[in-house]
Amino acid sequence: MKKLAVFVSGGGTNLQAIIDAVAAQTLTNVEIAAVFSSSRKAYALERAAKARIPSFCYVPKEYENNDLFTEAILEKLKELNIDLIALAGYMVVLSPKIVREFQNRVINIHPSLIPAFCGKGNYGIHVHENALARGVKLAGATTHLIDDGTDTGPIVMQKAIPVLDDDTPETLQKRVMAECEHIILPQTIQLMADERLSVEGHRVRIIDNTR
Ligand code: GRF
Repeated sequence: MKKLAVFVSGGGTNLQAIIDAVAAQTLTNVEIAAVFSSSRKAYALERAAKARIPSFCYVPKEYENNDLFTEAILEKLKELNIDLIALAGYMVVLSPKIVREFQNRVINIHPSLIPAFCGKGNYGIHVHENALARGVKLAGATTHLIDDGTDTGPIVMQKAIPVLDDDTPETLQKRVMAECEHIILPQTIQLMADERLSVEGHRVRIIDNTR
């Protein structure tokens, strides 16, 4: 059973998708051991409480510097014996120290088909505003392992949906969340929990361990 920590900053719909997948046993071999929030006001904390998952707030501005912020998080991760980390709407860039400590064990969900609409300025609703402004015909989401960049780590899964003529940024965001993000994030966590990812440079192969 792998111990998972889910990092959040806002509404927590991706956290909820993980909680629901564990409850429905469509995500197995995983225990959501903790929720780490960068905000004390995140609704994701309510979702954690309802699911009786311990939550911990590490708010960057409450620390004198980034090293102290990072140390506090690392200490808690070790205390809880966390195996895997899922960044689910987490708006803080993880320190390279955590990335190294948890190499290939941190997954992020991004609401576009990377490398489109990612990196600086492409977060939350802005991703969908930019996609509509560019007139793309496909939108979707990507799960990727974390490296020292922003949205630049090896891609694990992607799921695409058509952009509709009457889409607004809000309708597109809603559909990408429901039909892409909330599907591929639990699936990616399952692959990580079952140690089925083979990472070679930027390429990720899924190992078929049924044989
Ligand atoms: C989602 O679109 C996610 O892809 C992005 O942040 C948004 C909010 O996620 N990283 P959540 O509802 O807090 O899970």
